[in-house]
Amino acid sequence: MLLKGIKIGIAHTGSFCTINNVFKEMEKLVKNGAYLQSIFSFNAQNFSGRFGESSYFIKRAEQITKNKALLTIEDTEPIGKKKHFDILVILPCTGNTLAKLANAITDTPVLMAAKAHLRNQNPLLISIATNDALGMNMKNIGLLLNTKNIYFIPFGQDDYKNKPNSMMSNISLLIPSIEAALMGRQIQPVII
Ligand SMILES: Cc1cc2nc3c(=O)[nH]c(=O)nc-3n(C[C@H](O)[C@H](O)[C@H](O)COP(=O)(O)O)c2cc1C
Repeated sequence: MLLKGIKIGIAHTGSFCTINNVFKEMEKLVKNGAYLQSIFSFNAQNFSGRFGESSYFIKRAEQITKNKALLTIEDTEPIGKKKHFDILVILPCTGNTLAKLANAITDTPVLMAAKAHLRNQNPLLISIATNDALGMNMKNIGLLLNTKNIYFIPFGQDDYKNKPNSMMSNISLLIPSIEAALMGRQIQPVII
């Protein structure tokens, strides 16, 4: 099994509309023998809203990964030096984090993890969930699609009638997307 013993960082940002599906897919990774470590952006750590409480999300992630979540820039800076992960997945990735990543900004634990991880030329996989994918963020998606060692979980418009610029990755493609990225390939079709 390709995922057995693979070390995977799961970096959560402030979009929790699909969080229960995220946890289900994380459980599948663990069942497949992967080692998981969660990371939370500052905003993701302080989320409390209609989708639930962030403290619960952190606890749930720690239960699944059996590791303490990384919550600070100091926690995530050593990821590069220690070659902590074979692959890092930003799951989900907000429009905010996407835009910052495309512009080399490193001011959250998730962005620090991405920068440290990319230093080792290992794959970074992005699972987008943003209302401005076909708007302000289209240029950033285009830039990251063409960046070495960055891959996307296939994504599409999730509600074109009510949110014509919104796009979301299909999280059920997490495992095949990881397997492809570990082999240096973007899973296709990337737009679904
Ligand atoms: C209830 C709620 C849901 C949100 N969902 C999303 C989302 O799905 N996608 C997104 O890009 N931003 C979403 N946001 C906005 C982000 O949380 C906000 O841009 C934040 O600055 C993201 O910070 P981060 O990328 O560092 O986690 C949501 C905000 C709230 C309050």
